[in-house]
Amino acid sequence: MTYNAKIGPSILSSDLSCLGSECVRMMESGADYLHLDVMDGHFVPNLTFGHPMVECLRKSVGQDPFFDMHMMVSRPEQWVKPMAAAGANQYTFHIESTTNPGNLIKEIRESGMKVGLAIKPGTTVEELAPWANQIDMALVMTVEPGFGGQKFMEDMMPKVSWLRSQFPSLDIEVDGGVGPDTVHKCAEAGANMIVSGSAVIGSDDPRSVIALLRTVVAEAIQKRSLDR
Ligand code: DX5
Ligand code: ZN
Repeated sequence: MTYNAKIGPSILSSDLSCLGSECVRMMESGADYLHLDVMDGHFVPNLTFGHPMVECLRKSVGQDPFFDMHMMVSRPEQWVKPMAAAGANQYTFHIESTTNPGNLIKEIRESGMKVGLAIKPGTTVEELAPWANQIDMALVMTVEPGFGGQKFMEDMMPKVSWLRSQFPSLDIEVDGGVGPDTVHKCAEAGANMIVSGSAVIGSDDPRSVIALLRTVVAEAIQKRSLDR
């Protein structure tokens, strides 16, 4: 097993006028990476920010924090180079947003970023499977993408379990409604990268929430390795 428990706060629900300091606050609270939600008002019914913001954030927080870009956009091809230039580390696109995932994977790699591939709740995991050996991370959405603070969809867990059984060393991320009350389900199913927005950002003690999430996932990983 080559994967570790990693917690990536989604800064969508933070005070967006203070994005730089919010990112620093999350890293100082023990975050392993930052999950940055890019929405174009077309692929999803909401708007956030694009590569100019990422470029400013990178300058503000320094080289260290790993930026996982969750690209909830139509035509994800057009932002690969600008995001790489802005300082993104991983480009996570939705399989529903492109007709040629293979080419996009290649372009992302050539630009020097890691590749994440996401599926919405209505998309089967079998659609992602053919690409799983070419990507760094699979993202199983546990809400309809577009907004923070939604209810966790437990019925997505069979997708995570199936992916974990088929791809024992793949990074598997869950995103949407994940916090102290729901992380156990994700960890048991086999997710190792946990995006958490409102549960972390809205907490008075983000350090404790991040530590708790990581402990639950690390224990599940250890249990799985002992069971094998
Ligand atoms: C939803 C975003 C998520 C969201 C997570 O479209 O992709 O990253 O911000 O926020 P919570 O944890 O509040 O559901
Ligand atoms: Zn996200």
